Amino acid sequence: MANRRIFIKNFFLGIAFVAVRCVYKSKEQINPKISITQDFEDQPILFGDLHKITWQVTEDIFTLNVYFSSDSGNSWKLLFSNVPSKPNFINWTIAESPQNGCLVKIVNSQNGQESISNKFDILYSYELDLNKFPALLVDNGFIEYYDYPYGNLFITNENGQIKIIDLACTHAGCGTSYNSGNFYCRCHGSVFDKDGAVINGPAEKPLKRISSKMVNSSTLLIF
Ligand code: FES
Repeated sequence: MANRRIFIKNFFLGIAFVAVRCVYKSKEQINPKISITQDFEDQPILFGDLHKITWQVTEDIFTLNVYFSSDSGNSWKLLFSNVPSKPNFINWTIAESPQNGCLVKIVNSQNGQESISNKFDILYSYELDLNKFPALLVDNGFIEYYDYPYGNLFITNENGQIKIIDLACTHAGCGTSYNSGNFYCRCHGSVFDKDGAVINGPAEKPLKRISSKMVNSSTLLIF
């Protein structure tokens, strides 16, 4: 008798489980879900780098198209078409030129349902071997660096932290030069302090700070 009760109980539990699963599956099919799981603000997106675009999709999504926008989503360029949804990523070699306001979106190839990433910037990247610049290996040492392809830089070692300032004047782009703790613009007389803040105009904005990080004990990545 007890066995019969257990059998009946398990039988109805089984039916309930199957029913719930069917409802869930049918909802999934009516409303398949697709989302980019990548947070593009997590790490710098560097020109020329290999970057992984990741996503999550429901089982009934088989292929995706992947697009890129450089104008905040006004227009889109196809990066990859009919990518299998599993595994949940694709490697993207960033050949798009450095720019702001970029987006990536993934689109369900079957029904056009889409998911768009958060906004990100594509940055230049450049490696500098600090062994070639002994001044940067000591506290408060500095150099003016003219071989950076995207502008001239002031690089300093402030108590073990590398700090980089773009030497282009924020008034009209002339070069500034460092002297006794300040930056002086040769064109119209703007002066900036050692952190790039404006002391005298006509420039109104501070000198631009450039990001960097050490990738090993002597190589600095500038981006
Ligand atoms: S460009 Fe520097 S002050 Fe005008």
